[in-house]
Amino acid sequence: MKGVVLAGGTGSRLFPLTKITNKHLLPVYDKPMIYYPIRTLVDAGIRDILIVTGGRNAGDFLRLLANGKEFGLSHIDYTYQEGEGGIADALNLAHHFADGGKICVILGDNIIERSIRQAADDFRRQERGAKILLKEVPDAERFGVAEVDGGRVVNIEEKPRRPKSNYAVTGIYMYDGTVFDKIKDLVPSGRGELEITDVNNAYIREGTMTFSFLEGWWTDAGTFDSLLRASNLVAQTEGGAPRSGEA
Ligand code: G1P
Repeated sequence: MKGVVLAGGTGSRLFPLTKITNKHLLPVYDKPMIYYPIRTLVDAGIRDILIVTGGRNAGDFLRLLANGKEFGLSHIDYTYQEGEGGIADALNLAHHFADGGKICVILGDNIIERSIRQAADDFRRQERGAKILLKEVPDAERFGVAEVDGGRVVNIEEKPRRPKSNYAVTGIYMYDGTVFDKIKDLVPSGRGELEITDVNNAYIREGTMTFSFLEGWWTDAGTFDSLLRASNLVAQTEGGAPRSGEA
Protein backbone atom coordinates (compact mmCIF):
# COMPACT_ATOMS: atom_id res chain seq x y z
CA MET A 1 0.00 0.00 0.00
CA LYS A 2 1.22 3.45 -0.95
CA GLY A 3 0.76 6.62 1.13
CA VAL A 4 -0.49 10.11 0.31
CA VAL A 5 -0.03 13.20 2.51
CA LEU A 6 -2.41 16.06 1.69
CA ALA A 7 -0.62 19.31 2.48
CA GLY A 8 -2.25 21.99 0.35
CA GLY A 9 -4.80 24.63 1.24
CA THR A 10 -4.43 28.24 2.31
CA GLY A 11 -4.52 27.63 6.06
CA SER A 12 -6.86 30.60 6.35
CA ARG A 13 -7.83 29.71 9.92
CA LEU A 14 -4.20 30.28 10.95
CA PHE A 15 -3.78 33.67 9.30
CA PRO A 16 -1.36 35.57 9.65
CA LEU A 17 0.88 32.57 10.52
CA THR A 18 0.13 31.25 7.04
CA LYS A 19 0.51 34.55 5.21
CA ILE A 20 4.07 33.73 4.11
CA THR A 21 4.25 29.97 4.48
CA ASN A 22 2.20 26.78 4.17
CA LYS A 23 0.38 25.55 7.30
CA HIS A 24 2.14 22.18 7.15
CA LEU A 25 5.57 23.77 7.45
CA LEU A 26 4.72 25.49 10.75
CA PRO A 27 6.38 24.10 13.87
CA VAL A 28 4.68 21.55 16.07
CA TYR A 29 6.93 21.44 19.12
CA ASP A 30 10.37 20.63 17.64
CA LYS A 31 9.51 19.64 14.06
CA PRO A 32 7.68 20.97 11.02
CA MET A 33 4.05 19.80 11.11
CA ILE A 34 4.37 17.59 8.02
CA TYR A 35 7.01 15.39 9.68
CA TYR A 36 4.35 13.80 11.87
CA PRO A 37 1.97 12.46 9.17
CA ILE A 38 4.95 11.22 7.14
CA ARG A 39 6.22 9.39 10.23
CA THR A 40 2.74 7.89 10.74
CA LEU A 41 2.80 6.41 7.23
CA VAL A 42 6.38 5.14 7.51
CA ASP A 43 5.59 3.51 10.87
CA ALA A 44 2.71 1.68 9.17
CA GLY A 45 5.20 0.08 6.78
CA ILE A 46 4.55 2.44 3.87
CA ARG A 47 7.60 3.28 1.76
CA ASP A 48 6.07 4.95 -1.33
CA ILE A 49 4.82 8.40 -0.34
CA LEU A 50 3.31 11.23 -2.37
CA ILE A 51 3.11 14.76 -0.97
CA VAL A 52 0.25 16.81 -2.47
CA THR A 53 0.79 20.50 -1.88
CA GLY A 54 0.05 23.83 -3.50
CA GLY A 55 0.22 27.56 -3.10
CA ARG A 56 3.23 29.83 -3.22
CA ASN A 57 5.47 27.82 -0.90
CA ALA A 58 5.30 24.44 -2.57
CA GLY A 59 9.02 24.49 -3.36
CA ASP A 60 9.84 24.66 0.35
CA PHE A 61 8.56 21.10 0.80
CA LEU A 62 11.16 19.83 -1.61
CA ARG A 63 13.92 21.71 0.19
CA LEU A 64 12.71 20.51 3.60
CA LEU A 65 12.02 16.86 2.82
CA ALA A 66 14.26 16.25 -0.21
CA ASN A 67 14.30 12.48 -0.87
CA GLY A 68 13.10 11.48 2.59
CA LYS A 69 16.42 10.41 4.13
CA GLU A 70 15.27 11.71 7.53
CA PHE A 71 12.49 9.09 7.42
CA GLY A 72 14.61 6.24 6.13
CA LEU A 73 13.22 6.67 2.60
CA SER A 74 15.23 6.90 -0.57
CA HIS A 75 12.58 8.71 -2.58
CA ILE A 76 9.51 10.96 -2.12
CA ASP A 77 6.99 11.90 -4.81
CA TYR A 78 5.50 15.40 -5.06
CA THR A 79 2.56 16.91 -6.87
CA TYR A 80 0.94 20.33 -7.01
CA GLN A 81 -2.72 21.27 -6.44
CA GLU A 82 -3.81 24.31 -8.43
CA GLY A 83 -6.55 26.33 -6.78
CA GLU A 84 -8.68 25.49 -3.76
CA GLY A 85 -10.76 22.47 -4.71
CA GLY A 86 -10.97 20.72 -1.33
CA ILE A 87 -9.53 17.52 0.12
CA ALA A 88 -11.07 15.16 -2.46
CA ASP A 89 -9.81 17.39 -5.31
CA ALA A 90 -6.29 17.23 -3.82
CA LEU A 91 -6.58 13.45 -3.50
CA ASN A 92 -7.54 13.18 -7.16
CA LEU A 93 -3.98 14.26 -8.01
CA ALA A 94 -2.79 10.92 -6.60
CA HIS A 95 -4.57 8.96 -9.36
CA HIS A 96 -1.46 8.39 -11.46
CA PHE A 97 0.71 7.65 -8.39
CA ALA A 98 -1.76 5.07 -6.97
CA ASP A 99 -1.72 3.14 -10.27
CA GLY A 100 -4.85 1.17 -9.38
CA GLY A 101 -3.58 -0.01 -5.98
CA LYS A 102 -4.56 0.69 -2.37
CA ILE A 103 -3.59 3.96 -0.72
CA CYS A 104 -3.46 5.27 2.82
CA VAL A 105 -4.27 9.00 2.83
CA ILE A 106 -3.43 11.29 5.73
CA LEU A 107 -4.21 14.96 6.15
CA GLY A 108 -1.00 16.89 6.71
CA ASP A 109 -2.27 18.48 9.92
CA ASN A 110 -3.33 15.25 11.63
CA ILE A 111 -1.00 14.20 14.45
CA ILE A 112 -1.38 11.01 16.43
CA GLU A 113 0.31 9.41 19.40
CA ARG A 114 0.39 5.75 18.40
CA SER A 115 0.88 3.63 15.32
CA ILE A 116 -1.81 2.77 12.73
CA ARG A 117 0.08 -0.38 11.76
CA GLN A 118 -2.70 -2.75 12.83
CA ALA A 119 -5.39 -0.90 10.88
CA ALA A 120 -3.11 -0.68 7.84
CA ASP A 121 -2.39 -4.43 7.98
CA ASP A 122 -6.12 -5.15 8.33
CA PHE A 123 -6.79 -3.02 5.26
CA ARG A 124 -4.02 -4.73 3.30
CA ARG A 125 -6.00 -7.94 3.87
CA GLN A 126 -9.41 -6.34 3.16
CA GLU A 127 -10.51 -7.46 -0.30
CA ARG A 128 -11.89 -4.11 -1.44
CA GLY A 129 -13.50 -0.89 -0.24
CA ALA A 130 -12.27 1.60 2.32
CA LYS A 131 -11.41 1.96 5.99
CA ILE A 132 -11.65 4.99 8.27
CA LEU A 133 -10.31 5.55 11.76
CA LEU A 134 -12.63 7.02 14.37
CA LYS A 135 -11.89 8.80 17.63
CA GLU A 136 -14.30 9.74 20.40
CA VAL A 137 -14.10 13.50 20.99
CA PRO A 138 -15.94 16.11 23.07
CA ASP A 139 -16.33 18.55 20.14
CA ALA A 140 -17.56 16.36 17.28
CA GLU A 141 -19.24 19.30 15.50
CA ARG A 142 -15.74 20.40 14.33
CA PHE A 143 -15.28 17.25 12.24
CA GLY A 144 -16.83 14.67 9.99
CA VAL A 145 -19.03 12.65 12.38
CA ALA A 146 -19.76 8.94 11.96
CA GLU A 147 -23.09 7.37 12.80
CA VAL A 148 -22.39 3.80 13.89
CA ASP A 149 -25.10 1.15 14.01
CA GLY A 150 -24.69 -2.59 14.53
CA GLY A 151 -20.92 -2.45 14.14
CA ARG A 152 -21.05 -0.55 10.85
CA VAL A 153 -20.73 3.09 9.91
CA VAL A 154 -24.08 3.94 8.33
CA ASN A 155 -23.51 7.62 7.51
CA ILE A 156 -21.03 10.47 7.93
CA GLU A 157 -22.04 14.11 8.33
CA GLU A 158 -19.53 16.89 7.73
CA LYS A 159 -19.43 19.32 10.66
CA PRO A 160 -23.06 18.80 11.73
CA ARG A 161 -24.60 21.35 14.06
CA ARG A 162 -26.11 18.51 16.10
CA PRO A 163 -23.73 15.52 15.87
CA LYS A 164 -25.43 12.10 16.00
CA SER A 165 -22.43 10.64 17.86
CA ASN A 166 -19.13 11.65 19.47
CA TYR A 167 -17.14 9.73 16.85
CA ALA A 168 -14.99 12.05 14.79
CA VAL A 169 -13.72 10.74 11.46
CA THR A 170 -9.99 11.33 11.72
CA GLY A 171 -8.01 12.51 8.72
CA ILE A 172 -6.58 9.05 7.99
CA TYR A 173 -8.35 7.17 5.21
CA MET A 174 -7.58 3.92 3.41
CA TYR A 175 -8.99 3.39 -0.07
CA ASP A 176 -8.94 0.86 -2.85
CA GLY A 177 -8.37 1.87 -6.47
CA THR A 178 -12.04 2.77 -7.04
CA VAL A 179 -11.67 5.95 -5.00
CA PHE A 180 -10.90 7.91 -8.15
CA ASP A 181 -14.15 6.77 -9.82
CA LYS A 182 -16.00 7.99 -6.74
CA ILE A 183 -14.23 11.37 -6.84
CA LYS A 184 -15.31 11.72 -10.50
CA ASP A 185 -18.96 11.52 -9.41
CA LEU A 186 -18.71 14.20 -6.71
CA VAL A 187 -20.36 17.60 -6.90
CA PRO A 188 -18.98 20.59 -4.97
CA SER A 189 -20.47 21.17 -1.51
CA GLY A 190 -22.00 24.40 -0.21
CA ARG A 191 -18.48 25.76 0.39
CA GLY A 192 -17.55 24.98 -3.22
CA GLU A 193 -15.22 22.05 -2.41
CA LEU A 194 -15.12 18.35 -3.22
CA GLU A 195 -15.59 16.83 0.23
CA ILE A 196 -13.79 13.73 1.47
CA THR A 197 -16.93 12.96 3.51
CA ASP A 198 -18.85 12.49 0.22
CA VAL A 199 -16.19 10.00 -0.93
CA ASN A 200 -16.57 8.08 2.33
CA ASN A 201 -20.37 8.09 2.07
CA ALA A 202 -20.07 6.59 -1.43
CA TYR A 203 -18.16 3.63 0.08
CA ILE A 204 -20.77 3.36 2.86
CA ARG A 205 -23.59 3.19 0.27
CA GLU A 206 -21.65 0.50 -1.56
CA GLY A 207 -21.37 -1.50 1.68
CA THR A 208 -17.57 -1.70 1.59
CA MET A 209 -16.57 0.74 4.36
CA THR A 210 -14.94 -0.64 7.50
CA PHE A 211 -13.65 1.27 10.52
CA SER A 212 -11.55 0.93 13.60
CA PHE A 213 -10.92 3.14 16.60
CA LEU A 214 -7.69 5.06 16.83
CA GLU A 215 -5.72 4.40 20.00
CA GLY A 216 -3.86 7.12 21.87
CA TRP A 217 -4.40 10.82 21.38
CA TRP A 218 -5.27 12.47 18.05
CA THR A 219 -5.37 16.11 17.13
CA ASP A 220 -5.57 18.25 14.06
CA ALA A 221 -3.49 21.44 14.04
CA GLY A 222 -5.38 23.77 11.74
CA THR A 223 -6.56 26.35 14.27
CA PHE A 224 -4.66 28.35 16.88
CA ASP A 225 -6.03 26.22 19.72
CA SER A 226 -5.38 22.87 18.04
CA LEU A 227 -1.91 23.97 16.90
CA LEU A 228 -1.01 24.81 20.49
CA ARG A 229 -2.58 21.56 21.72
CA ALA A 230 -0.59 19.59 19.14
CA SER A 231 2.70 21.11 20.34
CA ASN A 232 1.84 20.42 23.97
CA LEU A 233 0.81 16.83 23.31
CA VAL A 234 3.97 16.11 21.32
CA ALA A 235 6.16 17.75 23.99
CA GLN A 236 4.56 15.67 26.74
CA THR A 237 4.66 12.42 24.79
CA GLU A 238 8.16 12.71 23.40
CA GLY A 239 9.49 13.88 26.74
CA GLY A 240 11.10 17.03 25.38
CA ALA A 241 9.94 19.60 27.88
CA PRO A 242 9.98 18.76 31.57
CA ARG A 243 6.42 18.45 32.84
CA SER A 244 5.31 19.93 36.13
CA GLY A 245 6.82 17.98 39.00
CA GLU A 246 9.83 16.85 36.99
CA ALA A 247 13.32 18.14 37.53
C1 G1P B 1 -11.36 17.66 7.51
C2 G1P B 1 -12.51 16.77 7.07
C3 G1P B 1 -13.26 16.23 8.28
C4 G1P B 1 -12.30 15.52 9.22
C5 G1P B 1 -11.13 16.44 9.59
C6 G1P B 1 -10.06 15.69 10.37
O1 G1P B 1 -11.86 18.82 8.11
O2 G1P B 1 -13.38 17.51 6.22
O3 G1P B 1 -14.28 15.33 7.88
O4 G1P B 1 -12.98 15.09 10.40
O5 G1P B 1 -10.52 16.98 8.42
O6 G1P B 1 -8.99 16.52 10.73
P1 G1P B 1 -11.08 20.24 7.99
O7 G1P B 1 -9.74 20.06 8.62
O8 G1P B 1 -11.00 20.57 6.55
O9 G1P B 1 -11.94 21.20 8.77
